[in-house]
Amino acid sequence: MNKTYGKYVVNKTGAPEVLEWTQEEFRQSASNEVRVRNEAVGVDFIDTMIRSGQLPTALPVGIGFAGVGIVEDFGTEVRNLSKGDRVAYMYFVGGSYAEQRYVPADRVFKLPDQSLSPVIAAGALFRGLTAWYLATRLRDLKQGDTALVHAAAGGVGLILVQWLTHLGVKVVGTVHEKTKVSTLLTYGCHYPVVIPEEDFAAKVKEVSDGKGAAVVYESIGAATFGKSLDCAGRFGLIVSYGWPSGDPGEVSLMTLRNKGSLFITRPTVTHYTAEPADFRCGATELFRMIKEGNLRIHVEHKYPLRQAAKAHEDIVAGKTVGSVVLVV
Ligand SMILES: NC(=O)c1ccc[n+]([C@@H]2O[C@H](COP(=O)([O-])OP(=O)(O)OC[C@H]3O[C@@H](n4cnc5c(N)ncnc54)[C@H](OP(=O)(O)O)[C@@H]3O)[C@@H](O)[C@H]2O)c1
Repeated sequence: MNKTYGKYVVNKTGAPEVLEWTQEEFRQSASNEVRVRNEAVGVDFIDTMIRSGQLPTALPVGIGFAGVGIVEDFGTEVRNLSKGDRVAYMYFVGGSYAEQRYVPADRVFKLPDQSLSPVIAAGALFRGLTAWYLATRLRDLKQGDTALVHAAAGGVGLILVQWLTHLGVKVVGTVHEKTKVSTLLTYGCHYPVVIPEEDFAAKVKEVSDGKGAAVVYESIGAATFGKSLDCAGRFGLIVSYGWPSGDPGEVSLMTLRNKGSLFITRPTVTHYTAEPADFRCGATELFRMIKEGNLRIHVEHKYPLRQAAKAHEDIVAGKTVGSVVLVV
């Protein structure tokens, strides 16, 4: 067996080329650790923010929080896993863009369907757990409620759209390119809006009979935030969960009052899955939804691990639809 395995690190932040391929030595797994031979790794938008410096992090830093692969080794205290099991893991210490990954056992989830494609599982995990908490943990959504989902054809977006429609929610979904509309319709989005061409606030008003959205899923930030506030109905919830166009800044309590006693939150999947029991619960529900055919994971953009920089370029340029995955 080789003495080392390859992984990406970032020693200085910047353009995708700062992703540096390095070699790391294998070591003994700690007593509560699992060593996974990665088969597929999700490329999530947050990875690009860490790499570029948009989200400040101590350097050097590994990249990627989630992956799917085969258990090759584990420590003496690890139970309920065997060598050869296919697992998905989510661990909030960067380092999944790698051939191998050491992960604490309580961040590892044995896939209930061992024959599920690792690419699909990797496309599902981080984004699917995000969609899970967004759809089920923030507001008790009811049949007929309206929700606004930005970047609806993206990785989180397409899963969230399906989760919401499964709950009976009417979904207005935005994209910036007309070419993404057909994908949105395929995954059940009721009212696609192409942002440069149509007013998404007017669309929300129209389809909710003037009531506004029960939840606004804001994942663009500064560029859309002001108008998104106008989309929430009375007692509506604004969920600001992503800022690719920049931090939207402060919101005054007076604004929340005047716009209809609104609620606002800036959540992260890190917090909603911090407890191992929550991680497990979310992963169980996610993979059950996939097995039952309620969620389809769209992976159109796959790259070899060593083309991680190209994957970053494409996702930041808004060129991708669905989940982006590196194949190891
Ligand atoms: N808080 C959390 O728990 C959490 C967890 C996971 C992800 N996120 C956030 O959720 C969002 C989606 O994540 P993802 O990994 O699935 O990415 P993604 O949606 O696959 O890709 C990002 C999409 O955002 C839009 N976009 C990118 N840059 C933009 C810009 N400068 N201005 C306006 N729109 C831009 C583009 O869609 P269009 O051009 O079609 O609009 C792009 O396809 C990201 O903002 C991410 O940071 C948050």
